Amino acid sequence: MAASSDTLRDKIRSRKARTGIVGLGYVGLPLAIELGKAGFHATGIDLDPRKVQLINDGRSYIPDVPTADVQALRSKTLLEATTDFAVVRDLDTINICVPTPLRKTKDPDMSYIVSAVEGIAKHLHPGMLIILESTTYPGTTEEVVKPMLEATGLKAGVDFFLAFSPERVDPGNPTFQTHNVPKVVGGHTPACSSLAAELYGAAIETIVPVSSTRVAEMVKLLENTFRAVNIGLVNELALMCDRMNIDVWEVVEAARTKPFGFMAFYPGPGLGGHCIPIDPYYLSWKAKQTGFDPRFIELAGHINAGMPHYVVEKVSDALNTRRKPINGSSILIAGVAYKRDIDDMRESPALDVMGLLLARGARVSYADPYVPVVHGREWSGGFDITAVDMTRGNIAQHDAVVIITDHKAFDYAALIDEADVIVDTRNAIKGSHPNVFKLGAPRGAVEGQKAVIA
Ligand SMILES: NC(=O)c1ccc[n+]([C@@H]2O[C@H](COP(=O)([O-])OP(=O)(O)OC[C@H]3O[C@@H](n4cnc5c(N)ncnc54)[C@H](O)[C@@H]3O)[C@@H](O)[C@H]2O)c1
Repeated sequence: MAASSDTLRDKIRSRKARTGIVGLGYVGLPLAIELGKAGFHATGIDLDPRKVQLINDGRSYIPDVPTADVQALRSKTLLEATTDFAVVRDLDTINICVPTPLRKTKDPDMSYIVSAVEGIAKHLHPGMLIILESTTYPGTTEEVVKPMLEATGLKAGVDFFLAFSPERVDPGNPTFQTHNVPKVVGGHTPACSSLAAELYGAAIETIVPVSSTRVAEMVKLLENTFRAVNIGLVNELALMCDRMNIDVWEVVEAARTKPFGFMAFYPGPGLGGHCIPIDPYYLSWKAKQTGFDPRFIELAGHINAGMPHYVVEKVSDALNTRRKPINGSSILIAGVAYKRDIDDMRESPALDVMGLLLARGARVSYADPYVPVVHGREWSGGFDITAVDMTRGNIAQHDAVVIITDHKAFDYAALIDEADVIVDTRNAIKGSHPNVFKLGAPRGAVEGQKAVIA
């Protein structure tokens, strides 16, 4: 007999539904907390025993999630974590929040989704709601997840409910967090959509239903491709400005005063993070399968991937004004996280810049209050480096400082006072200073050279 959506709806409304979250990372843990705060019992399933232990000890490891929130839910017995998928037997809903990286060939790596769905399928039971949240190509829910779950003999939309809902979390954003970012939801059937909307509606302020899982999957890829393409455009503009001796930062600041029809994007040392450098390739991979050539994505990818090389060129120009080569120079990278005030360095352009400088003979070190160590496996150098302090007194030991991440905690005044050469890829230092060489801005090199000659 088909499962009734009313039974699960009632359980959700009465908060008796037992919710599960597979993957307790940057996306899954905040969601588990919101579900717990909404009054559900939330069980996190993660293969990483360290994370599971920390949650069960009442501790957070995600900067946006206060430990007090984990403790509060633990004390009300509303939150627990396990590595064992057998718990799925007792759950009514599951949100899948596992990684979706790229293979070296830039093809989607579906292995985490496949392994999570395998774990769920073993214990799938009638009446459950399964929602995929991992960012992925349009068609994944219907073409990968559904057949694996239906291999159990249960049918999607009849015996269990299936939906896709993209995650839009912006780590480090104090204004927009899981509970107040509108949630797009697309179900396999209208009943699937409506149940997923019911669940999220209990914890998240605004729900945006769409007609299918494919539309919901495509929404996320549009959002992230939009960012990748616009960042590519402004990065190209920065390269042009460099040649034309125009300050790209001043251009963007003035352009953004237009109250309509313009949205500011900023240039930088290259894309970073789990989303923007990766997600557009999920879309282009799928588009190519249909014989479509996704030109914007490829072009933006090309420009953005070239930015670390441009940064190294800028370092070379800057050191040149001091009659120094990169080879043998001591270069301090300020910030290795992929963006300001967070600890995440996945796909960070800092890793590329460090590798390129090392390959040219530089002695590379880094400072980052959020990242104590860069492991050998994370960059082409292949050896572990620990963070150094970038405080007054030790800045001048380096021939150049390269600002890759504009953490608020850095003492920029000390940098200006003490560094011989600063390459600023984020416009972290305002105004013009003879020792500051900005990405996409008039060449300080000319001034610097004059200073040396004088
Ligand atoms: N981090 C972001 O800002 C962000 C924003 C929007 C969307 N997303 C998307 O959300 C998804 C998750 O990203 P994240 O940043 O939370 O990743 P993450 O690496 O922080 O967390 C993923 C977690 O899943 C666990 N895991 C991996 N395989 C598993 C399995 N088979 N079973 C159980 N647990 C497993 C890992 O141990 C890890 O704790 C990705 O698809 C990502 O693209 C991320």
